Amino acid sequence: MTIVFNTATTANGYLADADHSLAWLFEVPGEVPDMAPFTESVTTLVMGSHTYEWLLREERLLDDPQKWQGFYGSRPTYVFTTRDLEVVPGADLHFVHGPVTEALPAIRSAAEDGVIWLIGGGDLVGQFLDADALDEIVLAIAPTFLAVGQPLLPRDLHADRLSLHGVERVGQFALVTYLVGRHD
Ligand SMILES: NC(=O)c1ccc[n+]([C@@H]2O[C@H](COP(=O)([O-])OP(=O)(O)OC[C@H]3O[C@@H](n4cnc5c(N)ncnc54)[C@H](OP(=O)(O)O)[C@@H]3O)[C@@H](O)[C@H]2O)c1
Repeated sequence: MTIVFNTATTANGYLADADHSLAWLFEVPGEVPDMAPFTESVTTLVMGSHTYEWLLREERLLDDPQKWQGFYGSRPTYVFTTRDLEVVPGADLHFVHGPVTEALPAIRSAAEDGVIWLIGGGDLVGQFLDADALDEIVLAIAPTFLAVGQPLLPRDLHADRLSLHGVERVGQFALVTYLVGRHD
């Protein structure tokens, strides 16, 4: 079982703009990274409430809930929130709150031997890092800089815990994979 933060990011480390828009990402011309090989390895999804609400809004999932199956199949999905959020019918959703360490046993158990995909946002991934529960960071770096936005990973994480595992070019994107070492 591997816990992976796989995301697109601006070149200066934002996941979304100040209004939670990804318009900057969708305007990048040319070939885009193929997520299929990665998503096939994923058995469990984890996201924060803003990411979940972005999906509901942008993909109109409440009007067309079948789309969820198209994206994520029947994979269990853990959404961190302190609020009551609308539920996509048919999706295997688990709304959780509080310390990551409390939710981790259920998330790990749901994932079995597969990959846990931390979709975002950055602070939630930071909470997994704080809990020593992050194995890989996979970044698709867009040729974009934003003055402000939602941060990629608002934590101190230095070279003593990161090793560069892969670098690839896809169209205008740089794909970079880091392995994350555990705390000593
Ligand atoms: N570039 C990409 O590929 C990519 C990938 C992922 C996300 N995104 C976008 O990036 C943005 C990320 O937004 P964000 O940084 O605000 O992050 P987020 O993680 O999606 O949402 C933050 C919210 O998650 C909830 N939360 C986090 N930790 C919690 C905990 N331990 N217990 C309970 N609730 C917890 C809180 O919600 P409540 O207020 O509900 O309690 C918090 O306000 C979104 O717009 C998303 O669409 C982009």
